[in-house]
Amino acid sequence: MEDPTPNRLRGRVLAPRDDAARFDLIPDALLEISAEGRFVRVVPAPPGCSVPETHPGAVLLPGFVDTHVHFPQTRVLGSATGPLLDWLARTVFAEESRFAERTYAEAVARDFCGALIAQGTTCAAIYGSSHPEATDALFAELDRRGLRGFAGLTLMDRGAPAEVLMPGPWALEACRALVDRWHGHDGGRLQFAVTPRFALSCTSELMRGAGRLAQERGLLIQTHLSENRAEIEATHDAFPECSDYLAVYERHGLCGERSIFGHAIWLSEGEWVRLAARNAAVAHCPDSNFFLGSGLMPLRKAVDRGVRVGLGTDVGAGRTFSLRRVAARAYDVALLRDAPVSPEALLWHATLGGARALGIADRVGRLAPGYDADVVAIDVPDHAGDLFDALLFRDDHGPARAAYVRGRRLV
Ligand code: GUN
Ligand code: ZN
Repeated sequence: MEDPTPNRLRGRVLAPRDDAARFDLIPDALLEISAEGRFVRVVPAPPGCSVPETHPGAVLLPGFVDTHVHFPQTRVLGSATGPLLDWLARTVFAEESRFAERTYAEAVARDFCGALIAQGTTCAAIYGSSHPEATDALFAELDRRGLRGFAGLTLMDRGAPAEVLMPGPWALEACRALVDRWHGHDGGRLQFAVTPRFALSCTSELMRGAGRLAQERGLLIQTHLSENRAEIEATHDAFPECSDYLAVYERHGLCGERSIFGHAIWLSEGEWVRLAARNAAVAHCPDSNFFLGSGLMPLRKAVDRGVRVGLGTDVGAGRTFSLRRVAARAYDVALLRDAPVSPEALLWHATLGGARALGIADRVGRLAPGYDADVVAIDVPDHAGDLFDALLFRDDHGPARAAYVRGRRLV
């Protein structure tokens, strides 16, 4: 049985750079890890180094950061009932209502965490269901499996069947209890995220309460923004006093530097300017955007304006837990928009870029002294040509060889 907490790893390393969406390649690196799970040294392996290559043939890079994924959609991944509002009504709300039962949530949480680990995702920003017990079960499983993550009770008090709704005051009370129990757990490995699903499923009172809670406790806020044309129109009808979609979140205290917005496909110039000015982040979910026919997100525009962008699988509108596949879809979208983005930059968005979007890049996303040793090992055949092409575009790729959080191997 392999040591679950090796204090050294050796292999070919891709280390994200802090000053550009690029990587440094170290063909044969030695990574030394402290008992607390932090890198103490990342150096070229010295001549005659006695440490054997840890995962021969693999490349070591920071664990993938999935900045947008729905836990209670694990079992309906790939349901072709879109576009968005039809898919929610036909497939998603019925499945999410099953999470009223804790034992069901526990079973799905095991599958969900297993799927993240298999694809080398070591950190995720997760939408729970609207049931407090199910969200607690998710946290417990993340904890047990050693994953890093943000998770939140998905807040909904209107616009969906009664089984997935919860009156705002109760829901916010349940959030407070979950914050007390889980936020900051294990040295910050687990955090609570305030998660109003989207404007159409929340009353003004609930959104305002959610904004206050996030402010009081310093919590991440995650929600959906400008994903689908019909959704945007309905949002405009529901909030006629707001000039555009982003204004709904601004007005309710939900847009700031600790906010991450999923999708952001159809934003106006003015909305991009305000997102950048408020230093809010975006989760780019191209596989989901293809599957629901939502549209082509302008990644280059976001990056050029200095908006932090992570990648999100958005399971179950996304059809895969693999951020490598998501990065490949992001490449396709960028080409279709006549604004190509390099595979190297996309891999950076899947790692350090995601950590930045979630506000944890002081500890996560780099292979450098002082950072937590969150690492993934990915097999790359010897005959592969360009390393980034090989990592991203082999859609038939298998699972990651290994994944570690704070130097501890995830199983
Ligand atoms: N908008 C509101 N809820 C959802 C969801 O569950 N998935 C996606 N893709 N968009 C949403
Ligand atoms: Zn989503």
